Amino acid sequence: MGKRKGTALPAANPRRSDAMSFTPRVFSGIKPSGGLTLGNYLGAIRRWVAMQDEGMETIYCVVDLHAITVWQDPKELPHATREVAAAMIASGIDPARSILFNQCRVSEHAELGWIFNCVARVGWMNRMTQFKEKAGANAENVSLGLYAYPSLMAADILIYHATHVPVGEDQKQHVELTRDIAAKFNHDYGVEFFPMTEPVTEGPGMRVMNLRDGSKKMSKSGESDMERINMTDDADTIARKFKRARTDADALPSEPAGLAGRAEAKNLVEIYAGLSDSTPEAVLRQFGGQGWGAFKPALADLAVQKLSPISAEMSRLMADPAEIDRLLARGAERARAIAAPILARTYEIVGLVR
Ligand code: TYM
Repeated sequence: MGKRKGTALPAANPRRSDAMSFTPRVFSGIKPSGGLTLGNYLGAIRRWVAMQDEGMETIYCVVDLHAITVWQDPKELPHATREVAAAMIASGIDPARSILFNQCRVSEHAELGWIFNCVARVGWMNRMTQFKEKAGANAENVSLGLYAYPSLMAADILIYHATHVPVGEDQKQHVELTRDIAAKFNHDYGVEFFPMTEPVTEGPGMRVMNLRDGSKKMSKSGESDMERINMTDDADTIARKFKRARTDADALPSEPAGLAGRAEAKNLVEIYAGLSDSTPEAVLRQFGGQGWGAFKPALADLAVQKLSPISAEMSRLMADPAEIDRLLARGAERARAIAAPILARTYEIVGLVR
């Protein structure tokens, strides 16, 4: 993708082509709904830090408006919001280099979300596997917000003309829908205003699975705490959870092909690769032929070595919630400086008089 000229957006005539190319810009978000897991760390935060450190323009958001699509206790939501922000900062997101804020402070997200509700088709929403999984047999009784959620997610991304979205595998379909929404908007209004965003999902750790059942994703809402590693778990808890993690009777193979049909084994190897910034091939070169009695303690040690400093720093940051709020407010101001002109231009394109 080429360079867009400055940040100035083309003015006026909605029918002329807004032909422009887009500066690489990264956006991603995490819901403050319960604690964070190793899945959030490996599938998202770890890579967000890497993209920031590579010098890309990065915008990271605590998506509180997404969290309330399912019930959140208003007494707990502020703590959860600050804790996600603290986890990002403790993991290496620098609020000076990245734009870090919480979603409800930048109302442009919700406003563009409404426009996209009028662009996206009901049939598209019906295909969203995450909605089907979350709503289950109870689909008539979930909130309308949960159903419309992917359209707000598209707005989160496109309100910044973001070109790259680092997410875990489970969010890929939503980023693809974001492209459909951008394409339909551009087509319907005869413009080239919104970019075709790329999901960034390569590398190990993009789909961290449940420690007790390798066919299910590790999630913060799973039934038992033993099925996930929380970012705030202490060393003993991490060791106990990996020790009890389900595996099979075979030793580790010497190459990834030997993990076929062994979901739990594959998961633990990928977690090790993600935490050590290496690859399943390299991990198996080191551990191939060894049993779980050797591998699990090594994995637990590695996880503790990575997560302990982060959770210690999170506790330190959480001791001063006012400082976190100040950082989020400053991030929101910077976010709005990008979002406001894009929303203004969107309204103009749609023909809304302001
Ligand atoms: P959320 O809050 O469920 O998860 C945040 C990020 O963590 C990743 N993730 C995982 N990755 C690997 N393995 C797992 N087990 C695992 N569990 C979670 C998710 O893929 C995600 O990247 N809809 C989004 C939040 C969102 C968003 C956005 C993301 C709202 N607007 C715009 C990107 C761009 C969500 O619910 O993520």
